[in-house]
Amino acid sequence: MYSLQYDDIYYNTDNGPIESEYVFLTGNDLPGRWQEKPHFGITETGFGTGLNFLVTLKAWLDDSARCETLDYYAIEAYPLRATQLAEIHAHWPQFKTLSAELIEQYPDQASGCHSLSFERGRVQLHLIFEDITSSLRRYQLDPDCWYLDGFAPARNPSMWTKEAMRNIALQSRPGTSLATFTAAGDVRRGLISAGFEVHKRAGFGRKREMLCALKPDARANPESNPVPDLDNSQNLIQHAPWFAASRISKPPERVAVIGAGIAGVQTAWHLAQRGVKVVIIEQGDTIASAASGNRAGILAPKLTATAGAEEAFYLAAFAYQLRQIQALNKQGHSINFLQNGLLQLASNPHNLQRFEYLSRREDLPAGLCKIINAKQASELLGEKVECTCLLIEQAGGLSPASLCHALLKHPKIELRLSTALNEISYRNGNPQLKLSSGDLLNVDALVLANGCRATQFSDCTPMTPVRGQTSSALLRTDKSMGYALRHAGYVVSEPGNEQRLIFGASYVRGDTSDELRELETRQGFDILRVNLPELASQLTEIKPSHAGVRATTTDRWPIVGPLADTDFYRREYADLHQGKHYKPYPAARYQAGTYMLSGLGSRGLTSAAYCANLLVHSILGCAPPAPAPVLHALHPARFLIRKLGKGR
Ligand SMILES: Cc1cc2nc3c(=O)[nH]c(=O)nc-3n(C[C@H](O)[C@H](O)[C@H](O)COP(=O)(O)OP(=O)(O)OC[C@H]3O[C@@H](n4cnc5c(N)ncnc54)[C@H](O)[C@@H]3O)c2cc1C
Ligand SMILES: C[S@@+](CC[C@H](N)C(=O)[O-])C[C@H]1O[C@@H](n2cnc3c(N)ncnc32)[C@H](O)[C@@H]1O
Repeated sequence: MYSLQYDDIYYNTDNGPIESEYVFLTGNDLPGRWQEKPHFGITETGFGTGLNFLVTLKAWLDDSARCETLDYYAIEAYPLRATQLAEIHAHWPQFKTLSAELIEQYPDQASGCHSLSFERGRVQLHLIFEDITSSLRRYQLDPDCWYLDGFAPARNPSMWTKEAMRNIALQSRPGTSLATFTAAGDVRRGLISAGFEVHKRAGFGRKREMLCALKPDARANPESNPVPDLDNSQNLIQHAPWFAASRISKPPERVAVIGAGIAGVQTAWHLAQRGVKVVIIEQGDTIASAASGNRAGILAPKLTATAGAEEAFYLAAFAYQLRQIQALNKQGHSINFLQNGLLQLASNPHNLQRFEYLSRREDLPAGLCKIINAKQASELLGEKVECTCLLIEQAGGLSPASLCHALLKHPKIELRLSTALNEISYRNGNPQLKLSSGDLLNVDALVLANGCRATQFSDCTPMTPVRGQTSSALLRTDKSMGYALRHAGYVVSEPGNEQRLIFGASYVRGDTSDELRELETRQGFDILRVNLPELASQLTEIKPSHAGVRATTTDRWPIVGPLADTDFYRREYADLHQGKHYKPYPAARYQAGTYMLSGLGSRGLTSAAYCANLLVHSILGCAPPAPAPVLHALHPARFLIRKLGKGR
């Protein structure tokens, strides 16, 4: 396999897998080193064909003494197509099954970071489709070892810059190792000046030498110079100590999750997948009953006129949720998700303008969405549509309850219904929960996933309750509605019961009531009649269906991460209003083992799974697979930092 762009090979066609094992696994003392830890992280620069990943995954599977979980972060600026991977992998029958699993999940022609799951989540591959320079500035990967595999330095210097070496060193702890096929002098010197101890080793086949390196313990060896003088002003991670990753002494073994809505259930399942025992505490007498009790809602990305962190977040979340549903269905669950596509009506001039911008963008995943005119939309829908539409083919209507039920089948999850969390205290550095049953529950960590009510236990994560009601109606005719529709509101077929339509939803700020109201049903139906008169005329048995309370935030981002030790923040960051560069600040401190996943607003069906995966990485002390702007935007301490920044 040859790159014309770099005039170099991706891998050795004679002995690719053996060379990969020799250079990267043996060069990093694997599998031995992952046997010593419950979790192991690897970062590869240059994913290419995925050969190194397949070799690593196979070695991990074949090793009976392997670590519990493995995170493999791979940076790649020019991803190959899925069809190309399939063609190349066909040369390696030993990886047939693993390659099929990879290709099935592979995000074809997409940008951003994508987490794929293997071995029921025990191994995750995080594909970071971005240039190395910006990835290393934007992602905090902190692996146990590095595979540097980015074409020969002479042909592709962009992969081997001093800045890259420094950021690799900054993201390495004492004991972090590194291996690369090259023995180029510039690379060796770059690694040494970044603070690595470097040694040469015999290269593979005809290659004379290769390099291995180790990050030394600076205290044990003060002569080593781990922080070279190099301008790193663009490194986003170094510049926000108030959002620093939480440091944990040991991964928690038992975690309590408060709330059995989509946020709590997703969190519990992601923890359970990584081998953690979870107990869910739910005050209601059933799961998916509050905001998540809607019979069907829309699962779709949020698309904006221009690219930005928010859109990237929802795109990644959408793709992640689709992959999870696909995997669950493959395991024999049947999730009620009608993936018929979403037609978004340009029901106002702003939407129309946004659609036009979207249609001109080339940075969106290929085939994600397209603009269609009113005539085409009417033909597709079989109903009269009077305006331009945006069609998102992969989107559709999801029953949150069916997803929650499937996730809760995980044997490591225990569910306690009709039990509320009343109080949190701390014993020996761990959370102790006082429950409405009178029980005291001691856990290693706690996740508040109880919607707006999470504010009861945290004074620096403000959320506004917004009541919402959906209504249901029956279609008079036998035909079902082929698409989910979004206009000023939305209409979806109830998955599994397609003659019934769910429409809404009302949006009443500050109202915490979940009673069903005829008035909101009438208002919802009026909006539907204005936007889709022909469809509205075919509906009967119109009645309220469900009401719940959304948890919304002022900046519209969810809240995901560790809860701040507010005394520490107020003390150490009190003078932030004087300017961030006025002095160096210490890294953040958090409340012991206490986390939050809330504030999902109107898009929790799309974002909950992705947020849960990020949160679980942070709880287990692994690098969350998202760029710093996204992690900072989600961070629970952002509200407090903004206040301190204004001197309040
Ligand atoms: C009418 C309506 C329509 C919507 N439509 C869509 C849509 O189409 N697409 C979309 O993506 N999103 C939609 N949403 C938003 C989405 O439903 C929410 O973002 C999501 O359900 C929030 O999930 P959650 O788990 O955070 O909260 P919830 O589902 O509210 O779960 C919180 C749980 O915590 C429990 N709890 C609270 N306090 C305690 C305590 N002290 N102890 C124990 N348990 C406690 C509650 O009983 C509850 O079960 C809609 C929301 C509404 C209301
Ligand atoms: C030698 S190949 C990697 C082979 C790969 N590890 C495998 O197992 O197939 C080098 C890879 O680096 C990628 N690459 C080159 N320049 C890059 C850059 N600036 N940032 C990120 N990736 C880059 C190339 O697209 C190519 O896939």
